[in-house]
Amino acid sequence: MNFEFIRVNPQAEAFVAIIELNRPKELNALNRQLMSEVMDALKALDGDDQVRVIILTGGERVFAAGADIKQMANATAMDMVNVDQFSTWDQIRKTKKPVIAAVSGFALGGGCELAMTCDMIIASETAKFGQPEIKIGTMPGAGGTQRLTRAVGKVMAMEMVLTGKFISAEEAWQAGLINRVVPVESLMDETLKLAREIARQSPVAVKLAKESVNNAFNSTLDEGLLFERKNFYLTFSSEDQKEGMSAFIEKRNPEFKGK
Ligand code: CAA
Repeated sequence: MNFEFIRVNPQAEAFVAIIELNRPKELNALNRQLMSEVMDALKALDGDDQVRVIILTGGERVFAAGADIKQMANATAMDMVNVDQFSTWDQIRKTKKPVIAAVSGFALGGGCELAMTCDMIIASETAKFGQPEIKIGTMPGAGGTQRLTRAVGKVMAMEMVLTGKFISAEEAWQAGLINRVVPVESLMDETLKLAREIARQSPVAVKLAKESVNNAFNSTLDEGLLFERKNFYLTFSSEDQKEGMSAFIEKRNPEFKGK
């Protein structure tokens, strides 16, 4: 895979791929080409049998400083409607395999939204999260008012979105926005540890379980429970479920094949 603004390692280690945002001079500002490369990479990795978990990361100083302000500054509303650049981000949400964001430094605006679109977030102590769009006369447009509110609750999301203030990794952890805070030098090791743990499970069960958790945001409890139950029953058509339960009974480690 050849890209200009990202680096992709489909086999960073067994079953784990890494996508790295790589536009350092512009603080990984998410221009349209960069995001289209991310979507292409995600699509390819989602269809690759040798990949079970995907890590999305940036640099040490900045994960991403948001959508590219220079690319948007002179756009008209009709340009924005016609290009509709943020609708393509839905591909992240459609990725069936787990995507973990490894965040160090600034995750602002679209950068914070990108991290929040991932399934889990591991952050270094230097991470700063924020939706500063209000300071440039606009507002979040890639999920910030929705995902942030669901993650941290109304009052904190409201304050962040209306003042543009940043929160630290520690505050983000306390608010339930991220999974954990780790020292900056062990960010990738800790993220890989989590990825490895998930990659050891049945890929079929992981996929169905991820789909069910995400469905909790889009359904009533009754609908969600029904959806979950059907996915649970569906795992019984996999070899992995037979292998997992046999291994438990035979007191050995299971070997999941994703079938
Ligand atoms: N878009 C385009 N360029 C950006 C950028 C962005 N979002 N963020 C930083 N850059 C560029 C700067 O213009 C600068 O370029 P030049 O060297 O050519 O001047 C370069 O990256 C370095 O940036 P700074 O000099 O500003 O670095 P700093 O260390 O002083 O500050 C920062 C770092 C606090 C992250 C600051 O750059 C900043 O506030 N960035 C913008 C953050 C922001 O407002 N993000 C929201 C964007 S809109 C959005 O995301 C909409 C949405 O909901 C999808």
